[in-house]
Amino acid sequence: MALVPWTYNNPRIQRSNCREQTYTFCNKNVTVYQDTEKEINVHNNTAFKMWDGSFLLAKYLENKCLGDRTNSFLKKKNCIELGAGCGLVGIVTWLLGANVTLTDMDTVVSFTENCVAKNIGHLTEEHAELNANINVMELTWGKKDLDDSRFCAYDIILGSDIVYSPDIKLNEMLISTMESLWKEDTVFILSYKPRSLGENIFFDMLSERNFATHTIPSTQHPKEFSGSDYSIFHITR
Ligand SMILES: C[S@@+](CC[C@H](N)C(=O)[O-])C[C@H]1O[C@@H](n2cnc3c(N)ncnc32)[C@H](O)[C@@H]1O
Repeated sequence: MALVPWTYNNPRIQRSNCREQTYTFCNKNVTVYQDTEKEINVHNNTAFKMWDGSFLLAKYLENKCLGDRTNSFLKKKNCIELGAGCGLVGIVTWLLGANVTLTDMDTVVSFTENCVAKNIGHLTEEHAELNANINVMELTWGKKDLDDSRFCAYDIILGSDIVYSPDIKLNEMLISTMESLWKEDTVFILSYKPRSLGENIFFDMLSERNFATHTIPSTQHPKEFSGSDYSIFHITR
């Protein structure tokens, strides 16, 4: 299958209709699998297609690692992805040397597992140097017990396009989940697009809970997204 170079809002490509799309990250092919049978809207089945924010975040992480002479930004870091869906961000983070746990809610996690397994099998066979850990676990926001030993505190928490709901309870549950995975120097890296749905209450709630949100200048965004309305945030506490 031909590799399709990414451009944001490419009028010639309806990405959501493609069952499989293969991209190159770290000189390796990563295939994104979508469930095109499902009806997807902002309230239902959001996991089953790849959102633009995941390509943006994956490229941003790749570029950041390429520019990191000390090679320490992700290498051997413990990372967790929340709301991983098709799993692109988690897979690329693993390719960049981090130990990664991808998570999503119970109705989605087997889909995410499948997407990851289909990539990891051939990548580990072809590239013996890929020896970091990668796994997939169910994690529904707000449902993680504080003493849940399946999880630890992470160096980096990742989220692409997971802030889009105005539901106060859901945003609270997302922030509680972040808190339960947090340690002193954790950074939460988030790609976000404003959708005027009232979802920006998430950021007010973050500052009420003593998180600080740092905006990454658009000059540091991947070139494929120049002029897009996406933001990338580093959130610290
Ligand atoms: C818009 S999709 C983004 C998926 C993926 N990160 C991407 O960018 O392609 C939102 C994701 O958040 C997950 N999600 C929504 N509510 C959740 C909850 N309460 N707990 C865990 N995950 C949730 C969905 O299942 C979905 O995977």
